[in-house]
Amino acid sequence: MKKIHVALGAHAYDIEIAAGLLPQVGSKVAALLPKARKAAIISDTNVAPLYATKLQASLEEAGLVVHKVVIEAGEQSKNMQVLSDVLEQLAAAGLTRTDVVLTLGGGVVGDLGGFAAASFMRGIAFVQIPTSLLAQIDSSVGGKVAVDLKAGKNLAGAFYQPKAVFIDTDLLATLSTRFLHDGLAEAIKYGCIKDAALFEKIAGYADDAALLADIDSVVATCCAIKARIVEQDEFDTGLRMLLNFGHTLGHAVEQHFGYSCFTHGEGVAIGMYQLTKRTEELGMTAQGSAELIKSVLEKYNLPLTAGVEKAQLLDTMARDKKKNGNSITLIILQQIGEGVLQKVDWQEVPKYLG
Ligand code: GLY
Repeated sequence: MKKIHVALGAHAYDIEIAAGLLPQVGSKVAALLPKARKAAIISDTNVAPLYATKLQASLEEAGLVVHKVVIEAGEQSKNMQVLSDVLEQLAAAGLTRTDVVLTLGGGVVGDLGGFAAASFMRGIAFVQIPTSLLAQIDSSVGGKVAVDLKAGKNLAGAFYQPKAVFIDTDLLATLSTRFLHDGLAEAIKYGCIKDAALFEKIAGYADDAALLADIDSVVATCCAIKARIVEQDEFDTGLRMLLNFGHTLGHAVEQHFGYSCFTHGEGVAIGMYQLTKRTEELGMTAQGSAELIKSVLEKYNLPLTAGVEKAQLLDTMARDKKKNGNSITLIILQQIGEGVLQKVDWQEVPKYLG
């Protein structure tokens, strides 16, 4: 078992990582929240059939009365209507402020369920049990919870920290190869911005089986990097933006195709490679860095290019201009393992797209 403490004062919590952790969640939750009598499991139509019964049994064994709330799987569920429905179900189940919400699923469930917990009775305890690699190393840690609005993704939300994150890496066994690699793109990102040894380790696995045999240590390293960053910048006003390496272009690529062509991690992969190729040409990044990124992405079948004209991507990015003002913060690598924030005026952005 690996344990990472997230030191956020009154909102501090632990991330526990182990294969086979799910059946122990009930006793851990009961010990953490002794006043809780009821637990609501929020999950989706993909994950609930696989793991909700096991989690329910574990919570019931610990003396909790369990209610299940299952939403339709997919990003299209991450909206105000589904949020409202989930809140009504929590109320109908009679949960009180001393009870607990558990989110069992990927990023959509964690984000929506976390926001439901943040708003139900002005805040009820919640526990994250992420089931995708992307959620295990990124979205379940750091307290960003949200739903999408018609105007854009994650536009209604809060910073609301969980009471604990329980990561059972055995749950990754049911993840498709594409989504294992989708999450791995974020792990590669952590290596790029903060940890050259992690980058080399991921580049060095013989195959997916070797990666999976060592996945607890990869997940723990990524969570520790994120925890240290979030501790310094919980509300995303500075250092936390480092986590956005590859995301500016990645988001534009995802958005350009209406989120139907590239996954989030695939968009980030394209963003990391294309930006680093360009900053290397501009003399801002150590020579050879883009080639190293290219080879690790290729190894895990992650894309390098979106096949979209620069003008079209700029057009998509310009829609975000309103939100960001006249400049954006790009994350640039000085070398593998060392990312820095770079404030760039909008008119300078085309230079970074090659
Ligand atoms: N996923 C980026 C962050 O949590 O800040």
